[in-house]
Amino acid sequence: MKLWDNVDRYIADTLVQPDAALAAALEASDAARLPAISVSPAHGKLLWLLARTIGAKRILEIGTLGGYSAIWLARGLAPGGRLVTLEALEKHAAVARKNLGRAGLAEVVDVRVGAALDTLPRLEGPFDLAFIDADKQNNAEYFRWALKLSRPGSLIVVDNVVRDGAVIDARSRDAAVQGVRRLYELIATEPRVAATAVQTVGVKGYDGFAIALVLA
Ligand code: SAH
Ligand code: DHB
Ligand code: MG
Repeated sequence: MKLWDNVDRYIADTLVQPDAALAAALEASDAARLPAISVSPAHGKLLWLLARTIGAKRILEIGTLGGYSAIWLARGLAPGGRLVTLEALEKHAAVARKNLGRAGLAEVVDVRVGAALDTLPRLEGPFDLAFIDADKQNNAEYFRWALKLSRPGSLIVVDNVVRDGAVIDARSRDAAVQGVRRLYELIATEPRVAATAVQTVGVKGYDGFAIALVLA
């Protein structure tokens, strides 16, 4: 048991209100044997805070899983706002739709099934906020799409950009690590965004997220 796991739990227990729909979403995801890789409660609340802060009316998510982060994001929408979330697997999408329905968000969230690189070209922007959290190999392509579907002032958030520190291994043979590294290179050379990345420890181990602001 790492100290930071306990601190993460302390933060969540203290600052993140217990919520029946979020708890039920995780339970249903477990029961359906989906991988337990949803964002943590504290990170979910960060997504909600970001959406609220920018008054997001349209949010794009890539990588739905059981809809846990989608519930946080959708709850952060301004009144009348909508979330589109992309998921490759019908099984995951079905669990997510049920979880979103239980949270009262069925009308607010559009879960689209298919490989994101196939469904992204059918979307119309602009989105105020994009959350990229799918297969890491395609991170750079997803970022390009999120940028294409953005406007100046949009935020693009990417999960899992540290991966236990593996991100600094330029010679890693892990396709996910190389995908994250291509994302950093793209962001670094893309003049239309300003970005940083934040390392995190906690119940999901040692990882991090990147936040990019679309400038132009
Ligand atoms: N954002 C979720 C977790 C997503 S896990 C949460 O925090 O609650 C990553 C998801 O991306 C998985 O459900 C996986 O099936 C999906 N995925 C993987 N490859 C994909 C692709 N090419 N297109 C769309 N979704 C994909
Ligand atoms: C994995 C994927 C994630 O999005 C995450 O937050 C943690 C782990 C994974 O594929 O292992
Ligand atoms: Mg993730």
